[in-house]
Amino acid sequence: MRVDIISIFPEYFAPLDVSLMGKARDRGILDIHLHQLRDWTHDVHRTVDDTPYGGGPGMVMKPEVWGEAIDAVIAEALAGGADAAGPSVPGAGEARADLGVPGEAGDEAAHEGLLLPRMIVPTPSGRPFTQEVALEYAKEPWLLFAPARYEGIDSRVMAEYGSRLRVDEVSIGDYVLAGGEAAVLVMVEAVGRLLPGVLGNAASVADDSFAPGAMENLLEGPVYTKPPSWRGHDVPEILLSGHHGKIARWRRDEALRRTAAKRPELLARLDPEGLDKRDRQV
Ligand code: ADE
Repeated sequence: MRVDIISIFPEYFAPLDVSLMGKARDRGILDIHLHQLRDWTHDVHRTVDDTPYGGGPGMVMKPEVWGEAIDAVIAEALAGGADAAGPSVPGAGEARADLGVPGEAGDEAAHEGLLLPRMIVPTPSGRPFTQEVALEYAKEPWLLFAPARYEGIDSRVMAEYGSRLRVDEVSIGDYVLAGGEAAVLVMVEAVGRLLPGVLGNAASVADDSFAPGAMENLLEGPVYTKPPSWRGHDVPEILLSGHHGKIARWRRDEALRRTAAKRPELLARLDPEGLDKRDRQV
């Protein structure tokens, strides 16, 4: 997967060199390109923001600089990633650099060969980022993140690219961050760990809280390792029994209990068809 991130703080993304994401990059599974938004300004102060029309506090990010940045990043990637150390964009050979062609947006087939990226704009007023969205993004060959500072990006940027690319405004939760960069880190990690070859044990993705299938709308229950007793706290007997059927049942009971206690609103979303008699007793 290719990931482009345009930000006034590209250094914010240093953690993507560490741990699982760092390894995914080393292995070429995750091909991350960072870009300094200010490189597309034309004044000595490298200005990226201005006062909001209609008044009010704060500043709004200027459309011209974002437009130039996004056009250039896409064109450069399609041309084979001149600055790229990693692999160039797959399918770039047959790609079209004329981004102005309307009608490509929403044409699923057109995106198969990685013609254009899926653009993600983090904002507290976006649609919620969930495991389902992470799984959806993990299928994309190319993501372009546009994190904003200040009060956000001039809305015409989303309107402009929304007619050419798929543009998602996405929130990682009901709180306000100082900027979209931390949200991008969260999303890249949630998506990156789902890419084939990133996790050592692919089965662990299926056991994740919220994973589609058995764990859909359920929180994962408690986990334990050795020793069997620590400071008077014992590991539940059942986990030491070696009885796989009973252990699976216990884990499901614990997941149901924990979900009922901490996220009761999720229980209402459980598919009644998928519930058995034991589930209903928990
Ligand atoms: N930018 C500021 N707050 C945010 C949030 N909660 N989610 C995504 N982007 C943001």
